[in-house]
Amino acid sequence: MLEQNSTIKLVEVGPRDGLQNEKKVLSTEEKLVFINMLIKAGLTKIEATSFVRPDIVPQMGDSSLLYSKLDQSNSLVSYPCLVPNLKGLEMAIKTEVKEIAIFTAISETFNKKNINRTIKESLKDIQEIIKYAKAENMKIRAYISTAFGCPYEGEMKTDDLVNMTLSLDDFGAYDISIGDTIGVAFPHQVSNYLEKVKAHCDLAKLSMHFHDTKERAIDNIKTSYDLGVTSFDTSAGGLGGCPFAKGATGNVATEDVVDFFEKLKINTGVNLNLLREASLYILKKLNKQTTSKYLQNYIKNKNENEN
Ligand code: HMG
Ligand code: MG
Repeated sequence: MLEQNSTIKLVEVGPRDGLQNEKKVLSTEEKLVFINMLIKAGLTKIEATSFVRPDIVPQMGDSSLLYSKLDQSNSLVSYPCLVPNLKGLEMAIKTEVKEIAIFTAISETFNKKNINRTIKESLKDIQEIIKYAKAENMKIRAYISTAFGCPYEGEMKTDDLVNMTLSLDDFGAYDISIGDTIGVAFPHQVSNYLEKVKAHCDLAKLSMHFHDTKERAIDNIKTSYDLGVTSFDTSAGGLGGCPFAKGATGNVATEDVVDFFEKLKINTGVNLNLLREASLYILKKLNKQTTSKYLQNYIKNKNENEN
């Protein structure tokens, strides 16, 4: 099932971004079952957890235990973990995490609410985190949140986003994920940014991270793909949201993205039937409806056939 040469790379963020905002705290065992089902479906990069304050994000409170129980037998599978500061890095190092994801934002207000740091402070922290993480041979992803719009400050400036992308590239992140945290981006904003940034940075270094709040994520993915981006963050079943971004609903559903590319005859390396099983499993554990169009359609057809 695992394919190295897929045209499209999907970074599955369900176990972290998908679950972090869920009130019902799942057991470590349930999360591991979910992650293993995602691997079976063909996903090879799975953001497993985050090393953040458990009193603030209780769902991620089992990060060290969860990571220590992940199946590390397949070298094609990697498990990046979110790290907000040096304390988080220290915990990740103790847990022998191989890949971390650091994060900051374009919006000052959001960054302060999210990690209690100004943008300037967080960029300084990030350089230090990267220095220590590199000394431990860790791979480093970076996120830029509120890339196109912020719940507190409104529309963001494209030039600020371009400059921050270049700084993170400079600091040594191998992959920079551009987060539309509250799902408000329009395709013209996405193309404006990508046209500008690609003059200075190889688009192979970027992943696009769309939330589907306004149901524009697939349009934005199409725009990004047409301009040369081939890596996208997605979440099984469309779970997701950020505790510090009012109105941030789910990430774009992995099913919807796989289905979209399959229709274009573009390989994602993911088996939709097995992915569906993983999503249905976790949705049932959370007692939640899906926002995935593909999955909603599947459930509707199944119910009609049964009646
Ligand atoms: P702080 O309170 O500013 O940290 O929290 P502090 O350095 O002042 O320390 C205060 C206490 O917290 C101390 O404990 C520290 O040890 C402890 P005490 O001495 O009082 O007992 N502490 C920690 N404990 C566990 N893990 C840590 C840690 N750091 C300090 N890493 C912090 C700063 C960033 C930790 C906090 O604000 C936090 O945990 N925030 C949560 C951030 C979060 O998870 N946000 C959601 C993820 S981002 C996202 O979803 C967006 C994304 O998907 C992309 C997109 O869509 O845009 C990535
Ligand atoms: Mg997100």
